[in-house]
Amino acid sequence: MLRPSRSWFLGPMAENEGLLSELLIAAVKSHAEWRRSFRPEDPGLLPPCQTELQRDHAAAADLRREFGSLLKALHGSVPVFSARYNGHMLSEQTIASQAAYIATMLYNPNNVSAEVAPVTTRVEAEVTAQLADMIGFDSSRCWGHLTSGGTIANFEALWIARNILYHPVAALLAARTLGVDVSVELLDGARAPLGDLDLWQLLNLRPSSSLNLWEKLWLAAPGPDVEKALNSHSLATLGYQDYSRQLGAQFGDELPAGVVLAAGTSHYSWAKIVAALGIGSNQLVVVPVDIHCRMDPDALWREIESLSWDRIPIMACVSTCGTTEEGAVDDLQRILDVRARAEAELGVTFHIHSDACYGGYAASLTRAPDGSRHTAAAVREECGGTSWPTDQWVRSVSALENADSVSIDPHKLGYVPYPAGAFLLKDRRGRELVATDPPYLAVAASVNDEQPVMGRFIFEGSKPGAAAAAVWLSHRTIPLTTAGHGRLIAATLRGARDLHALLGSSDFSPFSVVRLPEPDLNIVCFLLHHPALETLAELNALNEYIYGELSPAAEKPPPYIITRTRLTSPAYDTVLQSLLSDLRGGGGSYVDSSGQGITVLRATVMNPFSDVDNAGYLLGLSDAVRRVAVGFLSYRSVNVDSDPGSLLFSAAST
Ligand SMILES: Cc1ncc(COP(=O)(O)O)c(C=O)c1O
Repeated sequence: MLRPSRSWFLGPMAENEGLLSELLIAAVKSHAEWRRSFRPEDPGLLPPCQTELQRDHAAAADLRREFGSLLKALHGSVPVFSARYNGHMLSEQTIASQAAYIATMLYNPNNVSAEVAPVTTRVEAEVTAQLADMIGFDSSRCWGHLTSGGTIANFEALWIARNILYHPVAALLAARTLGVDVSVELLDGARAPLGDLDLWQLLNLRPSSSLNLWEKLWLAAPGPDVEKALNSHSLATLGYQDYSRQLGAQFGDELPAGVVLAAGTSHYSWAKIVAALGIGSNQLVVVPVDIHCRMDPDALWREIESLSWDRIPIMACVSTCGTTEEGAVDDLQRILDVRARAEAELGVTFHIHSDACYGGYAASLTRAPDGSRHTAAAVREECGGTSWPTDQWVRSVSALENADSVSIDPHKLGYVPYPAGAFLLKDRRGRELVATDPPYLAVAASVNDEQPVMGRFIFEGSKPGAAAAAVWLSHRTIPLTTAGHGRLIAATLRGARDLHALLGSSDFSPFSVVRLPEPDLNIVCFLLHHPALETLAELNALNEYIYGELSPAAEKPPPYIITRTRLTSPAYDTVLQSLLSDLRGGGGSYVDSSGQGITVLRATVMNPFSDVDNAGYLLGLSDAVRRVAVGFLSYRSVNVDSDPGSLLFSAAST
């Protein structure tokens, strides 16, 4: 049975305080030695005069006092280290990451460039290679870096995907300017002169064919004019308005705006990103999900078919590995199969991005300690000979290697401090399509080809080398295999499945529990209901009340912390239908006529020690939910046991 090591974390009762203190003191001492050894001949601070000495003492006393207030104020934080916390995707951080972060922060390296952060930019490159190896990207061909989080990693994915989509148009116009033509590989493997393609074909080349065009133009017309010609026709230079004017003028065809396909369960960052990139939220096409909250591949196919009939180009399809609300893992392999079918039957292709911000670390469970890929049977064996995980789960997680880009957040299931997201691009040439040369960093770029200036290719500028060191040390000591992170994932997934089972088998009377299907990762969604609650508004009021009492904002400290979400139409139609029918089966007659959706309670079972005394904590949690629900009834001044039909819930629907 895979279990996390007790020495990886500080522990719920700070059991490893000694180890963390030892590492932090070593960090401060080592940093002080470094300072003293830099220029030992330099004079130290001049001996202060008496008045200055007094002022310095007073300043130090101020610092101590204010620091003390901060330390005290921090006790008001949310106790995410505790197994009683099952709220958002947030938990303990590894001791390795805490020590590395604090040690490195004393040096404050800025990973925007190797010139100012020679050590930690190397470390960041190693982290990227570790993550690439875990998901199965070829680290000699891919590129990646750490970001401030998943939102920025997702942003870069779509930024690059969009530019790859439109690149062949710029390449064709550049070729005309340069007076050359080059051949290009079509979806069926045939080759054709670029100049012979119509606009629809240009916008349906594989990303690799699109990226090959750059080099081909260089070979056909060596020299700096290629870049100039490409730039002058690129979307990045022209902007959307001039770009579509250009399409109209050059091809007599403006084509409808390109779209992004994403399931209703996708993270809200995608709505921000399409707005920020000027793609427009109208162009974010929602693909229905199945009962497990996974993108429905059949619905995806129907969507692509209908878009192709209307000649609407597809920039990207976003598949999620670990949805924010439910931890659902899309069947990525089937999504890839749908794209292959679209290429063969419709002549349509697009970039596939996996938003694995939450679930990406699950890939560590598919890696044996030597890094080789485990079969599904071997993963099950590692998990203690259970029937879990299914072949389909292992196939979906392993398929990350076939996505065009992937975002993974170490600051989520990687158990390291913020800020640490990561973006991985399978074909590193794509980064050139978003490159901007920073003049004040250009020299550093030319002297260090191996570690080019990061700022050239990324959306952010200054970024903490400390975050890179934190992820690096954590991965070095807790490998991305079943010897390390796989154990963490397995433990929390076990905890979530146990909670799911417990909620299904416990006696909640007079309430009953309706659950979403067994989770793909470690997030459990459920709701309570009572036969006397006649409308959805009443039902939602009950579950909102439970959430209110079991959230950090509750009036008195709650015994357990969970969170909640609301499943709305049309994004969750299949799930809503199923929930509503379960609820009706339980005696209600619920309809979602006003489109308000259903509030579900959400427990993220992420504590690395949640399986040490799992049963106790899980029982405690389910008991707390039931007790709070009973409190809701008294809150409404009603005695449900004597006369459930007499409940006065009118206030609950307000
Ligand atoms: C699936 C998914 N993608 C992206 C994000 C955005 O991550 P961040 O908050 O680090 O920007 C989240 C955050 O919860 C997420 O769950």
